[in-house]
Amino acid sequence: MNEIIALENVSIAFGPEVIYDRLSFSVVDGEFLCILGPSGCGKSTLLRVVGDLLGVDTGSVMVAGAPAAESWQEIAYVFQSPRLLPWRNAEENVILGQQLRFGSKRSRADMREKAAALLDLVGLGRDTHKSPAMLSGGERQRVSIARALAVDPRIVLMDEPFSALDVHTRRRMRTEIIEIWKKTGKTIVFVTHEIDEALELGDRIVVLSAKPTRMLETVEIKTARPRNPNSAELQAARSRLKHLLGVTDGEAIAS
Ligand SMILES: Nc1ncnc2c1ncn2[C@@H]1O[C@H](COP(=O)(O)OP(=O)(O)OP(=O)(O)O)[C@@H](O)[C@H]1O
Ligand SMILES: [Mg+2]
Repeated sequence: MNEIIALENVSIAFGPEVIYDRLSFSVVDGEFLCILGPSGCGKSTLLRVVGDLLGVDTGSVMVAGAPAAESWQEIAYVFQSPRLLPWRNAEENVILGQQLRFGSKRSRADMREKAAALLDLVGLGRDTHKSPAMLSGGERQRVSIARALAVDPRIVLMDEPFSALDVHTRRRMRTEIIEIWKKTGKTIVFVTHEIDEALELGDRIVVLSAKPTRMLETVEIKTARPRNPNSAELQAARSRLKHLLGVTDGEAIAS
């Protein structure tokens, strides 16, 4: 197994509050890994540690074979809210991500070409000139996915990227993110509150406990996508995840 992210014995405390006590965790190159866990358990913190936005008190964080501090170029984020600049159109927002990452190392023409190709990939080939105010919530989130991919990361960290969208858009975006993942071969680490979202998307689902956070279990899903939610494997995995998270039928994890 080729690990692209490896945390070993990571401990973090904010003042007296222990978030992780010797947490170990790894992600295989190219996999779609989902992280589930109760609100406040440290899912977003885990992504920040991987992206070197937050240092650890003890333990090691390796990303793409080097300490996280040296590997930030391998990583891009997609957040719950798309965080687009309102005065820049879709294409210019995707270009901005590249300007911040590459400065003058990538030519303006290359940035524009990349932005156009990725907006096309996320289904916005004809909307490149639209400002965020003209785009729907799902379209805005697609722009932020294009912006993340435009810096050629090996790893995309997604923090509840679809949770602000309506249920239909969310369903469509899940299908699309799988297509994008297949086409690009990126490693995706995807934080979600929803068991069914994790079941639909993940090769593996890592379940975290409440604080101090431990890995409760990793559930592997072998069924090919698109997955039938009522298949025996998914039903068994759903029961297991509900049991681990202590939730009743149909409920998302309390937030
Ligand atoms: N900079 C900080 N200073 C103090 N406490 C912090 C800081 N950042 C995070 N925390 C605390 O660490 C814990 C984990 O936060 P985190 O945002 O990672 O949770 P989460 O699992 O993403 O929650 P949610 O599902 O609600 O998004 C929380 O209790 C939070 O209050
Ligand atoms: Mg969070």
